[in-house]
Amino acid sequence: MSNHELCDIYRQKSDILHGSFDMEHFAVIQSIVRAGLSGDRDALDKQIERLRERLQKAGDVKDAATLERLRAAARDTQEMAPSRVEISRALIVGEVLDPGINPPIDRETGARLCTIDFPTKSDQSPVYMARVAETVEGLLHEWASEAALQAVGVAPTRTLLIYGPPGSGKTVSAHYIAARLGLPLVTARIDGLISSFLGTTARNIANLFDFANRYACVLLLDEFDALAKLRDDPQEIGEIKRVVNTLLQNLDLRRNFGITIAITNHDRLLDPAVWRRFETHLQLGEPDEHARDVLIKRFLKPIEAPEATIRVFSYCLARRTGADIERICTAAKRTLALSGESHDGPGLFHALSSVLARTPYHDHTPARILATDQEAFVSLIANDGEISLKQTEIGEATGYGQSRVSDLKKAKRHLPLMEAMHAQ
Ligand SMILES: Nc1ncnc2c1ncn2[C@@H]1O[C@H](COP(=O)(O)OP(=O)(O)OP(=O)(O)O)[C@@H](O)[C@H]1O
Ligand SMILES: [Mg+2]
Repeated sequence: MSNHELCDIYRQKSDILHGSFDMEHFAVIQSIVRAGLSGDRDALDKQIERLRERLQKAGDVKDAATLERLRAAARDTQEMAPSRVEISRALIVGEVLDPGINPPIDRETGARLCTIDFPTKSDQSPVYMARVAETVEGLLHEWASEAALQAVGVAPTRTLLIYGPPGSGKTVSAHYIAARLGLPLVTARIDGLISSFLGTTARNIANLFDFANRYACVLLLDEFDALAKLRDDPQEIGEIKRVVNTLLQNLDLRRNFGITIAITNHDRLLDPAVWRRFETHLQLGEPDEHARDVLIKRFLKPIEAPEATIRVFSYCLARRTGADIERICTAAKRTLALSGESHDGPGLFHALSSVLARTPYHDHTPARILATDQEAFVSLIANDGEISLKQTEIGEATGYGQSRVSDLKKAKRHLPLMEAMHAQ
């Protein structure tokens, strides 16, 4: 837990001591302070959780939720420093792939059949919901524990299919997994393999797999659904069948050599026989509220936005993908930098409002309200329990004074706008 987060917790504790909370919690607060000062992280976490439970029980849901958010944020900072997994030697065979080695090419066109990326320290961990993080960590754990699995007669998973909408972090996930394993990533785009001379496609596939099997690497088959799309062309049926068969044979053979990841946007389009070839299926989607907060914090850097600003961004960017969040945060930073406003809550608030106004139509009501009328938006968040911001926090995030926030809240300025939007 960083000093900054500790300070937040202490500040919160000091709020508690100065009135808004009951003194019955003082014993827990003392334990928190003791654990914090002694630097015992586990004890600190446990005591904070104790306080959270008590607040929750006492009906102080908002403050309990704030504590939980602080704990979760501290957990992420820890998780964001991934260590390299020591992969079992028996699992990955092959020569060392060094940067001097050229990728195989299509003999007719001379085009490269794959690109090769070497792991770097900067391969930052993607942000996952708990379910996805568990699957990814589970796979890494399997690859590091081959002997334990062998003892019960099973091998680690070697084939992973990642699917989800555009911009949900599929490609960054493949890069991240390869980096954690300390292996180069050999990426082939299936549409690149499918030569305009269909007859040579099967040969391209075979050449690609030969190359990947020769070296210690992770093979990534991106845009996997290109095959399925081709199947719709009735003239090519015979040829496509041949290509799919070559691919399946090569996938089966590769199981003895190394790890393969395939990516698709359209999981339904995939041939069931292809689908079955992959032992683990990882579904990515829009980040949940917590993952959104983490992504927003990351993409707003180097600006250290106040917690309330992160909440406002997160509230407006619900149901957006990681790539959307990155794009909007980057645009907001650009707008802020050129506006001359200070790099704080209100500056970011105005920047977000103008970025959303320029963003193509979307149906998320809070984002549309902020794009249209900032005062109506302040009224919306002051009235909406879902975002659970206190009036002081709303002030910090938007720059509106307490009494103005209170007036806007009472006037319910957002309602006419919402009605007009729903009537459209
Ligand atoms: N879960 C995530 N964690 C971190 N960054 C993410 C995440 N999802 C998306 N991004 C950001 O969005 C950008 C696009 O992600 P990526 O290229 O992995 O998406 P994709 O799912 O492969 O999309 P496409 O289907 O269009 O290829 C990345 O550069 C990354 O910064
Ligand atoms: Mg991609």
